Amino acid sequence: MTPGTCNTHLGRSAPVPTRWRREVERVLITDGQIARRIRVMARKIARDYAGREMVVVSLLNGTVMFLADLIRNLSLPLRLDFMGVSSYGAGTESGELVFTKELRLSVRGRDVLLVDDILDTGKTLYRVLGKLRALKPRRIRTCVLLNKAARRVEAVEADYVGFEIPDYFVVGYGLDFAERYRNLPFVGVLHPHVYKKACQRIARAKPGKGGARRGS
Ligand code: PRP
Repeated sequence: MTPGTCNTHLGRSAPVPTRWRREVERVLITDGQIARRIRVMARKIARDYAGREMVVVSLLNGTVMFLADLIRNLSLPLRLDFMGVSSYGAGTESGELVFTKELRLSVRGRDVLLVDDILDTGKTLYRVLGKLRALKPRRIRTCVLLNKAARRVEAVEADYVGFEIPDYFVVGYGLDFAERYRNLPFVGVLHPHVYKKACQRIARAKPGKGGARRGS
């Protein structure tokens, strides 16, 4: 476990709201736990970036909630930009990344904070870091809400990690399955029946594909 990060095995869980009980097996991280953890992360980031020209680069779409909560807790001047990057397909295993939006701001000579919601196989951060380094920033640090170290394929680690999580299929607080569940205020574990059904449909349509992204 990365020093200073939280382990989600610890602490009490909360009941899944009735509306989501059929799809979400359990709450892994509550909204309160997320809020508290983000305040701690923001304080550390603010200390590390004090006096620097900070550019926050956030990856669409999953960072929507994390980013908003993180930067409202960052009491230092910053500029904000987005990169669009998405794995091919809906809820299936695939290494194919598509860039859907490029940066507008220059990061040359700047201190970049790259924000993502989850570090899973590491393929996304690895590719994005390569792209950003070519733009010659002074320094890049990476910040993720969730780290699923068990699934890592690329040798990439984040500098700031909210929570270390096991290999569960997680949704909520910006994270989706087939573009759903991003609006849940907590991080929850998806019921296997939800993604298994979808993956079977995809496997039938495209032999050779299948399996769950962000969990097994
Ligand atoms: C998710 C997530 C991360 C990436 C992590 O993005 O937001 O960017 O997967 O996975 P990796 O470490 O295995 O590369 P996704 O492509 O699902 O797009 P989204 O942000 O729009 O949900």
